[in-house]
Amino acid sequence: MTKPQAGTTLDAARMSAMGAAGRASAVSRTGTADQPTVPVHVAVIMDGNGRWAAARGLPRVAGHRAGAQSVRRIIESAMKSGVGWLTLFAFSSENWRRPADEVLDLTGLMRHYIRQELAELSRQGVRVRIIGDRTRFDAATRAELDRVEHATVGNTALNLNVALSYGARDELVTAARAAALAVQRGELAAGDITESVLEGFLSTAGMPDPDLVIRTSGECRLSNFLLWQSAYAELVFMDVLWPDFSATHFDDAIAEFARRDRRFGVRAG
Ligand code: FPP
Repeated sequence: MTKPQAGTTLDAARMSAMGAAGRASAVSRTGTADQPTVPVHVAVIMDGNGRWAAARGLPRVAGHRAGAQSVRRIIESAMKSGVGWLTLFAFSSENWRRPADEVLDLTGLMRHYIRQELAELSRQGVRVRIIGDRTRFDAATRAELDRVEHATVGNTALNLNVALSYGARDELVTAARAAALAVQRGELAAGDITESVLEGFLSTAGMPDPDLVIRTSGECRLSNFLLWQSAYAELVFMDVLWPDFSATHFDDAIAEFARRDRRFGVRAG
């Protein structure tokens, strides 16, 4: 398979996301406090492992293994770029519906990766948090997830969120239920539920929203990922399969982000 060219893809992404007027003004600019050129928080939908494996006549698990190597690369790239937060969509709440052997491969790989990478992540100063419904994992996996979170709690070089058994609608339902319970217990009045109160019930409570969401594999959708948090995120869809995702692709996505004009629904003057 030919490796897709990021430049071509980004041009396509820019065309679809910005329109002709946006393309005309797509020049690089110097960051300001409001619009830093380096995103504070990058979220990534790592897509295309299966297609990468199929193109090589390999089992899907080989694609997921190769995808885990890209995870290493993107963590390094994020740290080099000065990104403070990185959220990786590793296993969706819908992924449980994949064939049992693939679910077993994926969860096993996740456990293996975490166990194997823990020392290196700690050495690099990465703080790991897991977002999503971890109650669906077995006890051994849950223990591994707790362990990596506890072991890295004091690290500050990069905040890495791994979304596991995560679904945004599920997260919003859980938050709504928690808010309703607080009202029922008399701890909160219904009229006091504001955006920031509801945010406090999300799995990302206290974290900055993603400024940039990258999705690989050429698919242009969010697939139930951080729907609330990505309300104003810049979306960059790249025509590269996740196992082929390199430092250059990451830099290209950051450069594309720097060219975007973020208005957050507000117009000056
Ligand atoms: C999507 O590709 C990818 C996944 C469902 C899993 C992502 C997992 C990894 C990158 C491996 C390990 C991750 C960590 C954090 C250690 P797909 O299977 O949907 O590919 P396809 O769309 O081509 O079939």
